Amino acid sequence: MSLSAVSVRQVSKTFARTRQPVHALHDVSLEIEAGEFFGLLGPNGAGKTTLISCMAGLCRQDAGSIHVLGHDTRSDYRAARRSLGVVPQELVFDPFFSVREILRLQSGYFGIKQNDAWIDELLSELDLSDKADHSMRSLSGGMKRRVLVAQALVHRPPVIILDEPTAGVDVALRQGLWHFIRRLNRDGHTIILTTHYLEEAEALCGRLALMRSGEICALEKTETLIRQFAKHRLTVRLSEGGFLPPLLAASAQALPDVERSWQWTLDELSDIESVLSALRESGCRLEDMSISPPDLETAFLKFMDNGVEETA
Ligand SMILES: Nc1ncnc2c1ncn2[C@@H]1O[C@H](COP(=O)(O)OP(=O)(O)O)[C@@H](O)[C@H]1O
Ligand SMILES: [Mg+2]
Repeated sequence: MSLSAVSVRQVSKTFARTRQPVHALHDVSLEIEAGEFFGLLGPNGAGKTTLISCMAGLCRQDAGSIHVLGHDTRSDYRAARRSLGVVPQELVFDPFFSVREILRLQSGYFGIKQNDAWIDELLSELDLSDKADHSMRSLSGGMKRRVLVAQALVHRPPVIILDEPTAGVDVALRQGLWHFIRRLNRDGHTIILTTHYLEEAEALCGRLALMRSGEICALEKTETLIRQFAKHRLTVRLSEGGFLPPLLAASAQALPDVERSWQWTLDELSDIESVLSALRESGCRLEDMSISPPDLETAFLKFMDNGVEETA
């Protein structure tokens, strides 16, 4: 039997010390297999960071259990913690240490004495080699975030959790970071990621959990989720002076910001034929036309919208 990388069983967490208790997690269950590249998505306040904090033992769930590679995060905290590397959402550092000092301290925390070869490799992969002796306070936000990534990896954890690691990181660095994380995944590390960049999640994650109000409301392979909730869209722009007959307009959506532009959501890609022939028969002339494939962003918005209607 294969061992789950992370197993979350019926976990609930309420923050009670606030004026009104906040039910941050409600009966969350989730199995993440070893070697997966897993995405945790949801709007702000959905409970993603709380769930990650519970996995890392930084926050105690009120009910339920979490195992990391078979180690209970409460009764076997040290082994569970050692199996994980967490890149936290918040940038917190002692500003006076240098980058290398921070990474050596973190190695020491895990009982690793001679770690400079790996530290140098991490710095090089994360394009930080020339910053090794700079103090943390002198680094830009994007660099600090890369140090957080290095810090999470000093003890070569089999499971790596990244909580919005690319917030505030510019495009080139983001690409570099993903290249590195993908390599770690190929080398067998399990990756758990939260991000607001849905195209990033779509490109990277094999499976996704969507969270809302402390619950997991969908748990699917990425492509299944997209197929289920998003469709191909056909967009046309009519020639100057063009006009869409009411019958055709009824099945389309006018794009608010672009003149004479209309969009159809297609149940099947082949439905494109009937829309185009209807346009032709109505004498509509096209200035431009494009087809967009189903994507995660559309699926996500659709899914979240549906959910709001259900609960209203
Ligand atoms: N330490 C805390 N004390 C009180 N409430 C908290 C604390 N941490 C998180 N929350 C609340 O729990 C809910 C989930 O937050 P969080 O896990 O940070 O969501 P996400 O990461 O999905 O944006 C939010 O309503 C948030 O305000
Ligand atoms: Mg968060």
